[in-house]
This record gives sequence, C-alpha cells and structure tokens, in this order.
Amino acid sequence: MSARLDRRGFLGLLGASAAGVALAGCGGWGPRGSTGTQLTSAVPLPPPYQVPLPVPLVARPVNAGAALDRYLITQRVARAEILPGIRTPIMGYDGVFPGPTIEARRGRPVVVRYRNELPVPTVAHLHGGHTPADSDGWPLDLLLPVGNTAGWARHGMVGDLAAGEREYRYPTTQRAATLWYHDHRMDFTAPAVYFGLAGFHIVRDDAEDALPLPRGPRELPLMICDRAFAADGSFAYPALDPRMREVPGVEPPWMAGVLGDVVLVNGAPWPVCEVDAARYRLRILNASNARRFGLALRVPGAPDLPFTQIGSDSGLLAAPVVRPSVEAAPGERFDVVVDFAQVPVGTEVTMVNSLGEGSAADVMRFRVMRSARDDSAVPERLAEQEVLVPGPTLRTFQFERGRWGPHTGWTINGTAFDPTTSIADIPLGEVERWRFVTDVHHPVHVHLDAFQVLRRGSGGPGPSDAGWKDTLDLRPAEVVEVAVRFTEHAGRYVLHCHNLEHEDMAMMATIRTV
Ligand code: C2O
Ligand code: CU
Ligand code: CU
Repeated sequence: MSARLDRRGFLGLLGASAAGVALAGCGGWGPRGSTGTQLTSAVPLPPPYQVPLPVPLVARPVNAGAALDRYLITQRVARAEILPGIRTPIMGYDGVFPGPTIEARRGRPVVVRYRNELPVPTVAHLHGGHTPADSDGWPLDLLLPVGNTAGWARHGMVGDLAAGEREYRYPTTQRAATLWYHDHRMDFTAPAVYFGLAGFHIVRDDAEDALPLPRGPRELPLMICDRAFAADGSFAYPALDPRMREVPGVEPPWMAGVLGDVVLVNGAPWPVCEVDAARYRLRILNASNARRFGLALRVPGAPDLPFTQIGSDSGLLAAPVVRPSVEAAPGERFDVVVDFAQVPVGTEVTMVNSLGEGSAADVMRFRVMRSARDDSAVPERLAEQEVLVPGPTLRTFQFERGRWGPHTGWTINGTAFDPTTSIADIPLGEVERWRFVTDVHHPVHVHLDAFQVLRRGSGGPGPSDAGWKDTLDLRPAEVVEVAVRFTEHAGRYVLHCHNLEHEDMAMMATIRTV
C-alpha cells in the first residue's frame, strides 16, 4: 500500500468516525471526577485483563556521537490492532502508538529529526522539557507534510514553517524525570494526540541511578488514556473538522472534553501484566485528552496495595510518600513503587479507576506469578529538593469557559489564545507567585520550567501536588498558588489547559521569558 493511498484512507476513516457512536449521558459536565462527555464505542468491547501489557519499544539513536544522541522519527499513518481482531488506523511516531520511548541522560543532548508523512502538519513538543523556545514546539512552528506543503503557507505568519523534516534540540540539562512528547499543533492537538501522537521521553541521571530503586524489567512506564471506537474500528472522535484542516474543536456535546469508554495502557485495552512478588517502579502518565483517573490497587479479600510515590512530573520527591490512591489529571505523571511481595503468589491485583464508571472504572491487572529475589529498596531520602520562595510578583490566571466574537470556547483571563500577544513577560531567574483561578476542572500546564505548589484553597498543597510539577490539577471553584521560576532560555512559550479539547478551543496563552 502506498503512503499516499494510506493517507487518503486514513482521512476517509476519520470522516466516518463521528457517526456511528452514541452519546452517553446528557451532555453535562460529565461523569464523576472528569470534565467532559463520554463516547460509547460502536464495536463490541473485549473482556478486560486478557491482553498482555505491551512495553513501548525504546528508540534507537541513528547516530550516538560522543556528546549527543540523534534520532530520526517518522510520523506516519499505520494500522494497529488495539482491540483484538480489529484494525484501527493511527497517526503514530514511527507508526506506533505509544511512540518509541526516548531514553535520555542528563548532560547528553538529544536531537530528534522528525519527518512528517502524515496528511496534516504537526508540531512536536517535549512535555516537561527544559527546552529552548525554537525547539519547544511553538504551536505555529508547523512541520508541513512531506511533498504536500501547498495550502498551508498562510499559517506561516506567526510561526516558522518547515517542510517535510524538522530538527528539535533538547539540551537535557534537567534532573531525571518522566517526560513525554506529543503533538502540539495549534487548534488540532486533541485529535492528533487522540489518534496516537504521544510517547515517553525518560531522562536519567547519576544521582537517581545511585539509588537502589527497582530497575530493568521491574521498571514499567504506563501511559494510561481513554479512547472510543467507531463501527469500522477507527478511533471515534467528534471533531468539527474531521480532516483536521480548518475548524478547530468538537461537536457541542463534547465541548467540555472527550472521554472514551475504553481504557488503554501503553496502547492495549485493560491489559494484564505478570509480575514477580517484588517491588516495581511504575511511571504513570495520564495521557488522556480529558479524563481524570483515581487509581487504586484492589486485592481480593484484603486491603488495597498502597503506592509509594517517589516522583512527580519533574523528577524525584525529596522523600517517598505512601498513598492509598493516586489521582491523576491529563498530563500529570506519578512515579510510584508498588511492592507485590505484600500479597501471596497467585494474587491478582487490579488497578481500578475510582473516578470512572462502567468500563472506564477498570484500568489493568497485575498477576503475581512467583516469589523472587529483590535487592531493591525505597530510601528515606530520594533527592535534594530546593524550595522556591516567591518574591513580590503575583500574577493571576483565570481559567473559564467564555466567548470571543461569535465563538464559544475556553479562555484564560477572558481571552482566547493569541499567538501574537504575550500576557506575561517574566524575567529569567526570578521566583514569582502565580495564582490559578477556575470554574470547572482544568489541568494547568506551564512550558519551560517546573513549579512548586504553595497552597490549594485555604490549605497547603494537596496529595497530588508534591515535588516539582509542570501540570496541576485545578479543581472546580478552586484557587491554587504556585512558585515558579524560569531559567536560561529567553523566548516565547505557552501555558495552557491540558484538557486537550479546552486547549484546542483556545485555552492557551502566550508568555515570554525575558
Ligand atoms: Cu503536554 Cu503544552 O503540553
Ligand atoms: Cu508541555
Ligand atoms: Cu481546561
């Protein structure tokens, strides 16, 4: 099958997607815990806990020089067997979903050359990356499709267009952390990620390697997200413009967010993972467009297995925190250790979503297969943690539903995303106090540098706020304050809501570091 045919086929299937799915609920603010409306798949869903948990393949550098690693990643259409026996067209980095994991080391720059063989422009963003502005994935720095650049030129007014291939440079000066990369094209991030453009990018360093944490096969990245399927097996997505060319956003019932009824972990529906009776490190990423997860580990006839959280979005915590459950909003990461030696061999430990209903309440299962030697441990001190103390500057960012001109969407400080106007010019090196104010749930994400949560409502930081964060779960009617400091890279960046439907419907703002 030629690439060209395959592309046309993909668009055709996309066009069919919004039809043939039923709308669940009544278009309100959505099921418990999430802001959005759930789609119901039009194909029979497989029983849970049958498919083995896949681990995304690790990208191989095309050229590992003495000082840096170079990668070539091709964005292309492919067909994946996500539900057993059903072919689903995806847009994938190297044609796979999740994309290949990039393994990076602090102090060793990574250069990724992307090639776009998709029918639409793309923008690659390293989420959580301390990245110079020209490689951050400014939403208008489009990478146009190979051999299909006509018609996109007018988009070049506020961005830097590249045709066919584009290089992104990641200096990798930051601490070890679980990052991820995903598409970030203005107005069309949500469908691009939904159709598969997301992958892990893990930064390691010597300080973390010196700790006796579980590693090797006992370290698992878990990309958790929800999707729904149309009758023809394609991903169902209620886009206003299924060709992803002109009109951003989704049909009105899904305006608050698109939720699916199938939970995928590393691209497999409700998978099962066979484990030793030993400690495992799980790098949990909520890569959903809009769904929040309340994760817990159920054990039949016994109390839940706890998570020992060791890291958050931007690296290790100062000290581990034992938590009965973990609430994760879109874009957030939680690095946890689970000790499967706490239950008898033969036990099935089920990771559930206490914020989901029906099929969305199931996530995945661990089957404890055998006793095994375990030399790992979770030390009481994990990392040095600098505490940011904000200076006098206070900025307030208000996230709410709003209108501009004839449009209804989502706004920050009453305005829609304007790539030409910075709403905050922030001096590099200064610690500022930022206040986030909201109507409904908004996972707030800031590019370039991580922040620390100072207070949530009238209390201190919540359980999900520990450590260095780049994405924050802002809950209805809540006020959250953070301390933030940008360093090193002056330029144009964004802050935005990581509910991707909100982001595409304008809940993004230009900021500048100066
Ligand atoms: Cu994960 Cu601006 O994105
Ligand atoms: Cu980001
Ligand atoms: Cu939002």
